[in-house]
Amino acid sequence: MFFRKKRMPAAKLMSNQEIKTVLSEFNRSLTLIADKSLLINNLTSRIKQLVPVERVFVFLFSEGSGCYIPEEATQPEPVDSQPITFNAHGKLFNWLSVNELPLLISIQHDVLEYLDPHEQRKLMQMESDLIYPLKVMNQISGAVFLGKRTDGLTYDKDDLATLSLLFNQAAFAIEHAILYEQQKERITKMYRADRLAVLGELAAGAAHEIRNPLTAIRSTIQYLARDIKDPEKGEMMAEVITEVDRINKIVQGLLSFARPSDLNATLINIEEFIMQLVSLLSSTLQTMHIETEFRFLASNPTINADREQLRQILLNVFMNSIDAMKKPDPSKSRLLTIKTENTLAKNNSVPMLALIIQDTGCGIPDENIEMIFNPFYTTKSEGTGLGLAICYGFVRGHNGEIEVQSEPGVGTSLTIKLPQNTIGKNQQHEIQNSYSRR
Ligand SMILES: Nc1ncnc2c1ncn2[C@@H]1O[C@H](COP(=O)(O)OP(=O)(O)OP(=O)(O)O)[C@@H](O)[C@H]1O
Ligand SMILES: [Mg+2]
Repeated sequence: MFFRKKRMPAAKLMSNQEIKTVLSEFNRSLTLIADKSLLINNLTSRIKQLVPVERVFVFLFSEGSGCYIPEEATQPEPVDSQPITFNAHGKLFNWLSVNELPLLISIQHDVLEYLDPHEQRKLMQMESDLIYPLKVMNQISGAVFLGKRTDGLTYDKDDLATLSLLFNQAAFAIEHAILYEQQKERITKMYRADRLAVLGELAAGAAHEIRNPLTAIRSTIQYLARDIKDPEKGEMMAEVITEVDRINKIVQGLLSFARPSDLNATLINIEEFIMQLVSLLSSTLQTMHIETEFRFLASNPTINADREQLRQILLNVFMNSIDAMKKPDPSKSRLLTIKTENTLAKNNSVPMLALIIQDTGCGIPDENIEMIFNPFYTTKSEGTGLGLAICYGFVRGHNGEIEVQSEPGVGTSLTIKLPQNTIGKNQQHEIQNSYSRR
């Protein structure tokens, strides 16, 4: 076998008994932990108990991107300012899946040379020496990248045998945790969609009934207000009209949420569309000293979408970000970043255009994140709480996805993915393709 043990100054070796204890403790913890991140944290700390190593990175396969991507808790530094990922069809993962063995770089120089230069660069950046595939049902679900042993020794057969016991247990547990996470997400979505549908039906009925009397009230007040000379009473009348308008806005929101009109999809260049919308908001942005940054990375920026619905989605999201940056905080600059990129749908490989809207606003506490798409959930005195519920419905109507990530005090990032247009980007003619909402 190819392992040479370079004996360096006395390294503390673990006894078999100690190794067994670590492994059985890890095994026991697997029955208690269903959360993927906790599981990975637990795995990395067990690895460090078993072998003296500093740098440990866990990469898992992401169906959406077709790549192995680092788990949040173990993020390596980016290379050329790009986050490190490995293509599932790249040479490294090909080698791992064909050989079904760990790769020990300091010994297997020939394999390192066989890899693509960008893969070699990534491995160097991560200072990886041992790459251990995680295998579940004959598929490589991920890999653990370990740096060199900190005691100067080379990983030997015993290390590999111990680690393989640990990784076999871990691979199944991580797979379970991922399935559990997906299941939870599916249930939440189903529950949300169901609740929205029922509420939508009720709301649409009520909204129709409210609209006509409301119009009558508004015009009567306007008519009566003309004869009022007392400024105090005039002000009261103006307030009544403001409140009526507010009810009208809620009713309007309820209607577009409950009965969105049929999709009238046309070919839209999303980047031009964004620039037009942002220019509408330019005076608000200027008054509030909000900088805007555009990172248009999509090579094909066209989508087939309903212009009016897209306008409503984006305006609401931009306004939410602007509202979130309202509170003065001298320690933070106000920045609205709008990114576009070509990507894939989460659970299948449908090409999508991702719009990422990031702000440096107040953020959303963890316990409220789940509620922001609920109709009427608002933290604003003037808000209807329908903005994101409407966006959610519209995005789903386009077979898209919407996700939010937020950190209180840091900011919020909203990602909207819409199916990518299959028509070439040079065909800028508009197609009138009306189709009904699912
Ligand atoms: N970018 C953001 N930063 C911080 N909080 C946000 C952000 N976007 C949404 N929220 C939270 O989600 C809530 C719901 O948003 P939504 O757009 O549905 O309604 P709203 O903005 O409150 O009301 P309206 O859209 O009628 O003005 C907001 O009140 C706010 O608490
Ligand atoms: Mg809003």
